[in-house]
Amino acid sequence: MCGIVGYTGHRRAVNVVMDGLRRLEYRGYDSAGVALLDAGELVVEKRAGKLANLTEVLSGHSGLAGSTGIGHTRWATHGAPTDRNAHPHLGADGTLAVIHNGIIENFAVLRRELETGGVTFISETDTECVAHLLGQAYRAVSAERSDRLAEAMRRVCQRLDGAFTLLVVHSDQPDLVVGARRNSPLVAGRGDGENFLASDVSAFIEYTREAVELGQDQVIEVTPQAIVITDFFGAPAVGTDYHVDWDSAAAEKGGYDFFMLKEIAEQPQAVADTLRGRLTDTGEVVLDDMHMSPRQLRDIDKVFVIGCGTAYNAGLIAKYAIEHWTRIPVEVELASEFRYRDPVLGPNTLTIVISQSGETMDTIMALRHASEQKAPVLAICNTIGSTIPRESDAVLYTHAGPEVAVASTKAFLTQVTAVYLVGLYLAQARGVLFDDEIGDIVAALRKAPEAIAKVLTLMDPVRRLAESLRDADQVLFLGRHVGYPVALEGALKLKELAYMHAEGFAAGELKHGPISLIEEGTVVVVTVPSPRGRSVLHDKIVSNIQEVRARGARTVVIAEEGDDAVVPYADELIRVPHVATLLAPLVTTVPLQVLACGIAAARGNDVDQPRNLAKSVTVE
Ligand code: AGP
Repeated sequence: MCGIVGYTGHRRAVNVVMDGLRRLEYRGYDSAGVALLDAGELVVEKRAGKLANLTEVLSGHSGLAGSTGIGHTRWATHGAPTDRNAHPHLGADGTLAVIHNGIIENFAVLRRELETGGVTFISETDTECVAHLLGQAYRAVSAERSDRLAEAMRRVCQRLDGAFTLLVVHSDQPDLVVGARRNSPLVAGRGDGENFLASDVSAFIEYTREAVELGQDQVIEVTPQAIVITDFFGAPAVGTDYHVDWDSAAAEKGGYDFFMLKEIAEQPQAVADTLRGRLTDTGEVVLDDMHMSPRQLRDIDKVFVIGCGTAYNAGLIAKYAIEHWTRIPVEVELASEFRYRDPVLGPNTLTIVISQSGETMDTIMALRHASEQKAPVLAICNTIGSTIPRESDAVLYTHAGPEVAVASTKAFLTQVTAVYLVGLYLAQARGVLFDDEIGDIVAALRKAPEAIAKVLTLMDPVRRLAESLRDADQVLFLGRHVGYPVALEGALKLKELAYMHAEGFAAGELKHGPISLIEEGTVVVVTVPSPRGRSVLHDKIVSNIQEVRARGARTVVIAEEGDDAVVPYADELIRVPHVATLLAPLVTTVPLQVLACGIAAARGNDVDQPRNLAKSVTVE
């Protein structure tokens, strides 16, 4: 997820664009850059690292009096965070600059076509393909056309697959910014003699609150006097006008009280972006970006999955999925314990390390230990170019975008999504599942973003419950099968956010001791497997709910719509849509995230930056 700003009007564009980037820096901070039109010249400056690096460069510029420009803060998806890979990227003759948020899925094909045609690339990014295509398209459009740059944009957008928000400026067009969007946000701001474009309204809210949300597959032309919107083929179109009633601080959180709530709400998109380009229409899994050969995949005879905290919990889910689909034995390890127990591994042991930040020292040390034992290491990571993917043999990036809140939410769901993809890819390469079996699971995965979005509409009972639990002294979480790692994740969220004692248990384990914890009013949260899947799991956990309720527990049951068997034993019943048994964590985790966040807020805690914690633990 990157930050994008465009401006044209009566102010100095460099000031407006840089102000906007400062408000959007939370969306990505791997690099930053601007393209400014100044007296017919296109001035481009870009630097890796924080926005401050760019600010320093621009402070050395005299002039920059121009009133049109675009700017970008990058969350790297293709290509490491370097000056060369920073946006904007230039068209062949340097008279055109483009910035991009998203992923061009067919960029490899486009790049090969351009290189074959003699184009020399200077970056590793998918965005540079767009810059060269725009330069070519612009030259092909008649110079007589007043919408020449917009028409060039439309022709290029017709060739792109994936998710993109694009802004482009051209030195021939001094007061014009052209934008386009598909599967990635773009909003315009209507000013008085000035107009704005941005990834979200926080970039321009101090200048105007009159916004226009662009729809799917639309192109927008912005001048100081006018905003013109078309579809990708030139037909007139309209955006959605609205008045922004947030203040600028709230706007950075998209109107949510906390980044965590915003990131919970982003989960459908985050999972969709992590799946994007990796499932074919014929039901196959394609993980070319993982760069592991079919032979490597077939020779694997054991898998270790390693992580910390939430990443470890995602690893536990990986065990259920990978063993079930591939019949390869899987061990899940806490990174901080892994290397000290002298594990047995070798060249046919696939070691999967999971990390949102890619900088967790416990996980880095575990990775290095596995590499020393010649075990191939696959990183599942959300941060391009970070230490863990850099030191791994292969990487499968999640595309959750920056996760600002310390408590991990969308990163977790995308990590779980990624381990499903790896499990299916292994099964596919080894031929241990029939194509139609894989196709059925792929079809279910495709529906996951929609199911998660549905859960988000059912959260009012959870928010009310959170208020009622603000003074609870402990909460226990139960689950069976993949519901057990979900119970651990729910307990971790509550501990780290509400500073409340919480513990997750395998539901079948309770009677072997922990059930002594139950007394009158003890809150027990139970995620119930689908009755449609392995009903033995469902029936046993209903028995577990009865056991704790018989001892005075207040039961909070999370069960799929239509599961009536649980109703007599649920003091609170939270409904989720049906998903396949192994995929259930993608929906059952969400109520636990909302519950923990709600209790923490009710307690007046700092939800986004809980006490004693850091977003990335870079010490052992
Ligand atoms: C999760 O909510 C915590 N913030 C923490 O457990 C985190 O998952 C853990 O520190 C691992 O971080 P990583 O994914 O960046 O490696």
